Amino acid sequence: MENMTPTSNLLSSLFFFTLIPLFSRNSIADYTLKQGQSINDTQSIVSAAEIFELGFFSQPQATNLKYLAIWYKGVTPKTVVWVANRDTPVLSSSATLNFKRDGNLVLMNQTGAAFWSSNSTKSIQNPIAQLLDTGNLVLRDSKSEDYVWQSFDYPTDTLLPGMKIGWDSKTGLNRKLTSWTSSIDVSSGEFSFSLNTNGLPQFFVHKGNKTMFRGWPWFDHDFGQSYGNGFNYDLVFDASTEISFSYNDSAHSRTRIVMDSSGSILRHEWNDVGEKWRKAYSFDGAGCNDYDLCGNFGLCNPAVTTSCGCLYGFEQISTKNLSNGCVRRDPKICEAGDGFMKISKVKWPDSTGDSVNMKLGVKDCEAECLKDCGCLAYGTVQIPKIGLACVNWFHKLVDIRYVPDVGSGDDIYVRVAASELEAADEKRSVAVVVAVPIVSVMVFLGLIGGWIFIRRRARGNHEVLIVPPIQEHELEIPIGVLEAATENFSVFNKIGEGGFGSVYKGKLPNGQEIAVKKLAETSGQGLQEFKNEVLFISQLQHRNLVKLLGFCIHNEQILLIYEYLPNKSLDCFIFDDQRRSSLTWPRRIDIIIGIARGLLYLHRDSRLRIIHRDLKAANILLDNEMKPKISDFGMARMFREDQTETKTRRVVGTYGYMSPEYVIDGYFSVKSDVFSFGVMVLEIVNGKKNKGFFHPEHQLNLLGHAWNLWKEGRSLELIDVILEDQFDEHEALRCINIGLLCVQRRPEDRPIMSAVVSMLENENMRLMVPERPGFYEERFIETGIDSSLNDQLSSSSNNVTVTLLDGR
Ligand SMILES: *[C@@H]1O[C@H](CO)[C@@H](O)[C@H](O)[C@H]1NC(C)=O
Ligand SMILES: *[C@@H]1O[C@H](CO)[C@@H](O)[C@H](O)[C@H]1NC(C)=O
Ligand SMILES: *[C@@H]1O[C@H](CO)[C@@H](O)[C@H](O)[C@H]1NC(C)=O
Ligand SMILES: *[C@@H]1O[C@H](CO)[C@@H](O)[C@H](O)[C@H]1NC(C)=O
Ligand SMILES: *[C@@H]1O[C@H](CO)[C@@H](O)[C@H](O)[C@H]1NC(C)=O
Ligand SMILES: *[C@@H]1O[C@H](CO)[C@@H](O)[C@H](O)[C@H]1NC(C)=O
Repeated sequence: MENMTPTSNLLSSLFFFTLIPLFSRNSIADYTLKQGQSINDTQSIVSAAEIFELGFFSQPQATNLKYLAIWYKGVTPKTVVWVANRDTPVLSSSATLNFKRDGNLVLMNQTGAAFWSSNSTKSIQNPIAQLLDTGNLVLRDSKSEDYVWQSFDYPTDTLLPGMKIGWDSKTGLNRKLTSWTSSIDVSSGEFSFSLNTNGLPQFFVHKGNKTMFRGWPWFDHDFGQSYGNGFNYDLVFDASTEISFSYNDSAHSRTRIVMDSSGSILRHEWNDVGEKWRKAYSFDGAGCNDYDLCGNFGLCNPAVTTSCGCLYGFEQISTKNLSNGCVRRDPKICEAGDGFMKISKVKWPDSTGDSVNMKLGVKDCEAECLKDCGCLAYGTVQIPKIGLACVNWFHKLVDIRYVPDVGSGDDIYVRVAASELEAADEKRSVAVVVAVPIVSVMVFLGLIGGWIFIRRRARGNHEVLIVPPIQEHELEIPIGVLEAATENFSVFNKIGEGGFGSVYKGKLPNGQEIAVKKLAETSGQGLQEFKNEVLFISQLQHRNLVKLLGFCIHNEQILLIYEYLPNKSLDCFIFDDQRRSSLTWPRRIDIIIGIARGLLYLHRDSRLRIIHRDLKAANILLDNEMKPKISDFGMARMFREDQTETKTRRVVGTYGYMSPEYVIDGYFSVKSDVFSFGVMVLEIVNGKKNKGFFHPEHQLNLLGHAWNLWKEGRSLELIDVILEDQFDEHEALRCINIGLLCVQRRPEDRPIMSAVVSMLENENMRLMVPERPGFYEERFIETGIDSSLNDQLSSSSNNVTVTLLDGR
């Protein structure tokens, strides 16, 4: 039966669970239910391409409660995407779905009591109910293509591709997702996910009537980190007819966004090969994402630990309870000379109920706000595919947070009294003096963050001043705090010896665990590296990058404070005979994809291209879920967007991971990182180090070995023997292929990271055939290399980063 041709399929695709055709007496049209027909709780309807199935289900703890539902056909465990009667289960031993006289669908028990109905106000002569391959159950007249009712208009907890949430004037519906009560109880739970229709189209997660989280004006900012290849969304923002959001995902045959019963938003993708769901994105709104954590005029700062501050020109109402918000230092607003303070890199305040004008430029938007004394702030934002929106805020300014990510966050112009503008101006003169010794740092920060320390712009009778939302000193942590946290840097707290010094574990008074990296006291070189590291990484936020919480300078001693990751680095696992066995194949794949995503963020997602230059297994840290995080940005260099390659006189990196053009000519580009990534992929697959690789039959390193096996069609022999046959062959071959593409000799042949991520995530994408790798014969014997740093550290680890100076 399952192998039926499409033609026979047309004749009967109404099955029992046992796949016995129903209604053998009457001929039943494909995937539809017609007037006079019905299904009971032992029957189901399957969509044309057998993607979705409509039928009845009961929950294990209450088998007498019956629900009409849609789920993915052939997916186990059963994944329900829609439920008709979630709050009115049929309480009976049997249930039937059929048509009412007016053509609506109705759900009844044996004695004819109705528990649910499709509720269309139009009556239909010859109704047809059809389950589409999108998962939409539609009701229409047999002679018309127009739906009089569709299940997509009544979402449960799941948003499928093509389904819309938001408001539509035609139906008058405001569609939202509502969680299940618990993971086993389908009835309406507390959490809902909706699109705001009064103001900018913002996403909201509510728990009952309490707002838990507010998304940004558009989707990109919320879920942008990982929507991945093939994901497209569509936002309709027309206040008079429709405000809605929908999406498609061409890279995955099945994908869904779910408002989970624990309050998280999750996006799942179906992996056809592994036949399982993968969580591609999850959001659970903690820290500064908590709605209105810092009160009116407050500014939430996630940079070190979550903390509340005030917008420029405001002060806290209570130092004890920061959630009370802030008030103006000088309340004299709407008098001559008042103006706006530009605050950059923030998530805009909630605009519910505020005025939104389309297509007003910054200047007109400002004029609009200035006209009205009640206007607190203004801003303009480009909404993708829709245009420029000008927002004037009148009620309050709540739920603003600073966004440290490079290239994200928006500008807002906040109204302040004349005296504040003068004060900021004076502060600027002081700042310039103070800033001189660290001017390069500030320029650097300006470059990265997109703001300039304080700039004055005189305009008419009011002014706009620009201030950074977070001052550099907010990253500074007093030495006392660190001494207390690490028990005076006791040896018992020492957890590692890195390329530039020792690492200690510590615990802050609030319970947060930290890793404190104490840089070697020696050289000016360390200072340079330090500045780089702080400035780069404090601006970077990605779940596959380690998070820098702050820094400390004390008596020429430099300390960096990171989030603590309990599982140490990847090399402690992958090259360790015991621990290696805990790295199952799916884990290895997740690690590879995680590293690829983190690296893609550095290379592309940041406004400035960042080249890590020292990617290696030792610089990949693992969190408690074994998720990888790229660390150690001491060597990283920034590129402008248009710059693709540069040459350095100081070659730094680690043997075994450096690309030929870098070691030989000092050229580095994103492609040199891709090379290092490729080496790591092969190491993760094989469980051996490239450097020091030994094989009885040849003198090649790991790259050479992988290349030989590839040429001979024996690539599977490269897979770590410890895995035995516990891996997916198709995935494994693709991984090796991708690894070999990344380590090709010529940089121009290597793929860029966005291509690598696509190849890893999309198992159907065709892969190129690799050319021979670079450095496949080299055994990395360390002779004749001036590695000054190597000597300095003289670490027992043969894994340290080395520096090759001029004149090698
Ligand atoms: C469901 O309908 C089929 C076909 O009409 C019938 O054979 C079967 O007994 C019904 N099952 C129940 C539980 O009513
Ligand atoms: C059908 O539902 C009605 C209303 O809840 C109830 O009174 C009746 O007993 C049910 N019939 C059966 C057979 O359970
Ligand atoms: C159908 O309409 C009735 C009355 O307007 C309402 O009480 C009921 O909740 C609606 N049912 C659905 C499934 O929308
Ligand atoms: C929110 O819900 C709670 C509990 O159901 C209720 O006490 C409160 O009045 C509600 N608040 C508003 C603003 O509706
Ligand atoms: C998704 O695909 C459907 C059907 O091809 C199309 O109508 C819709 O506009 C697409 N939506 C997006 C967001 O691309
Ligand atoms: C702080 O203030 C907020 C809002 O005014 C209030 O909800 C909260 O309970 C207060 N917290 C404490 C610890 O007093």
